[in-house]
Amino acid sequence: MRILITGGTGLIGRHLCKALQAEGHLLTVLSRRPATVAVKCCASAQAMATLEEWRPDRTFDAVINLAGQPIVDEAWTEKRKQALRDSRIALTEELVRCIAAARQKPAVLLSGSAVGYYGNRGDTELDENAGAGDDFAAGLCRDWETAALAAEASGVRVCLLRTGLVLSERGGLLGRMLLPFRLGLGARLGSGTQWMSWVHVDDYVAMVLRLLRDEQMCGPFNMTAPQPVTNTEFTLTLASMLRRPAFFIAPALMLRLAMGERAALLLEGQRVLPTRLMKAGCQFKFPDLASALNSVLNR
Ligand SMILES: NC(=O)c1ccc[n+]([C@@H]2O[C@H](COP(=O)([O-])OP(=O)(O)OC[C@H]3O[C@@H](n4cnc5c(N)ncnc54)[C@H](OP(=O)(O)O)[C@@H]3O)[C@@H](O)[C@H]2O)c1
Repeated sequence: MRILITGGTGLIGRHLCKALQAEGHLLTVLSRRPATVAVKCCASAQAMATLEEWRPDRTFDAVINLAGQPIVDEAWTEKRKQALRDSRIALTEELVRCIAAARQKPAVLLSGSAVGYYGNRGDTELDENAGAGDDFAAGLCRDWETAALAAEASGVRVCLLRTGLVLSERGGLLGRMLLPFRLGLGARLGSGTQWMSWVHVDDYVAMVLRLLRDEQMCGPFNMTAPQPVTNTEFTLTLASMLRRPAFFIAPALMLRLAMGERAALLLEGQRVLPTRLMKAGCQFKFPDLASALNSVLNR
C-alpha cells in the first residue's frame, strides 16, 4: 500500500513506520522537518513538507493521521491551547480537503484521538459508546474526531484511534517517569485512585495494522490494554520492576499550583476498555502492566 503518515516522526509513528516498512508498504511522512524523516522513520520513507505537495493526481491507499503538538509539555495558555488544536484539528481538516480533492481516494483514514475524549470519569468502565467529557482535552479529542469523520463524505472508511498511555522504551510519559523512579523518587500522584489506561507500543502497532487491513472496522476504537490500573498500582508496579521504593506522594494541590489546568492529565483519568477490538478478536501480547513494563524496560 502507498501510505501517508502525519506525525510519523513521533514516538508512535516511528514504531509504526518500522512495522509498515517491514510489511513492504511505501511510506510518505508529513513532517515539519522533512530532512529528519529517513533517519527517524525508515530509510525508504519519502518526506512531505506540507500537504500542498499532495496534488489531486497523487494516490495514497491509506492515510494515518497522528500529528499533534505534545500536550503535557507546556502550560495551557490560550495561545498554547490554540496551537494544540491547530496542530490536530486544522491539520486534519486540511487532510480531509486533500482527500476530497484526490482523484483516487484512499480506502481508509486512521486518525488520532485519545482516551482523554471521555474526560474525568472516576471508576466507571468506559467502552466506545461512552460519551465525551467536557474539559479541554475532551473537547480537543471530540473536535479532532469530528474533523476526521468528515472524510466519510468522500467514501473513505474512517477509524478513530482513542489512544491510551503508550508504553515504549523510547520516551513518552514513561520515559519521563523513569529517572525519578530509578532514583527512588517515584511518587503516587494525588489520591492515586485515578485510572491509567495504558497500552504496550507493540500491541498498539499490531492493532493499527489490523485496522488498516480489516475493511469491516470503522468508527472509534479504544486503543488500550484490557487491564487499566489505578495510578497507585502503576506507581507500585513500576517501582517494583525497577526494584526501587516509591514512598512519596505528589500532592494534588502542589501539582495543580505547578501545572494549572494541565494537572488534570495526571490527577484525573479514565478506566477505558478496548471493547470493540476485543470483540473483533484482537489478541494482546501484553494484557497486564507487569508484562508490558518488563518488556519495555528490558529492551
Ligand atoms: N504517546 C501517547 O502516550 C499518546 C497518548 C494519547 C494520544 N496520543 C496522541 O497520538 C499522537 C501521536 O503520539 P506520539 O506520542 O507519537 O506524539 P509525539 O511523539 O509528540 O509526535 C507527534 C508528531 O506530531 C508532529 N507535530 C508536533 N507538533 C506539530 C505541529 N505544531 N504541527 C504539525 N505537526 C506537529 C511531529 O512531527 P514533525 O516534528 O515531524 O512535524 C511529531 O512527530 C499525538 O497526536 C498524541 O497526542 C499519544
